[in-house]
Amino acid sequence: MERLQKVLARAGVASRRKSEQLIIDGKVKVNGKVVTELGTKVTRTDRVEVEGIELVKEQFVYYLLYKPRGYLSTVHDEKGRKTVLDLVPHVEERIFPVGRLDYDTSGLILLTNDGDFSYLMTHPKFGIKKTYVAKVKGIPSRESLRQLERGIELEDGKTAPARVKMSTVDRKTGTAIVEITIHEGRNRQVRRMFDAIGCPVQKLRRESFAMLTTRGLNAGEVRELTTHEVKQLRVLAETGKIG
Ligand code: URA
Repeated sequence: MERLQKVLARAGVASRRKSEQLIIDGKVKVNGKVVTELGTKVTRTDRVEVEGIELVKEQFVYYLLYKPRGYLSTVHDEKGRKTVLDLVPHVEERIFPVGRLDYDTSGLILLTNDGDFSYLMTHPKFGIKKTYVAKVKGIPSRESLRQLERGIELEDGKTAPARVKMSTVDRKTGTAIVEITIHEGRNRQVRRMFDAIGCPVQKLRRESFAMLTTRGLNAGEVRELTTHEVKQLRVLAETGKIG
């Protein structure tokens, strides 16, 4: 669901302000009826006309990017820092990142212009799992790992149960590599979870996103999702199962 004036502006009809004026002036119809309410929300299936001409809908596109460290997961940065969009310059559609990875986190991130799809992938109620590989300072005890698994109290509430596996312990450097799978996407969640057990994250990579992995992609590379993958992701969010 999107605000009508935003839909008009995005379709290139006019600026947001001028689109609002078109609505107020009664020049916009939704499903054949004139709409003058600025708060009106429309979905992709609604037929929108401006002065009798139907809007052309932008095709939905879906990309999988292996984000390197040192890029922001935003569309634009006021300070001119590099963003994930700098890595997909050939895309004409107005894509945005699905969820967020920290500036210093590498790994998989989806990019799309499909807001409903983005919601399915990010809202915790749909349970899409994301696996991270964290290099942490210190060697977490069994009890700490269990705490992470059961859920840990953070300032914005307790985290949902997670899957946790310690894959490497380096006693010389006093570091460990831990894999953690979560389906929430709170701000800096994984880093805060490890902080809470006294093992701060030194390096973080998102290794998988649902059934998608980094296989075939190097840091900085992007590929389009196949139609089948997009469908699988939707089905997974809606039913909890693939196929
Ligand atoms: N959790 C974090 O702490 N950072 C990320 O970038 C992603 C998940």
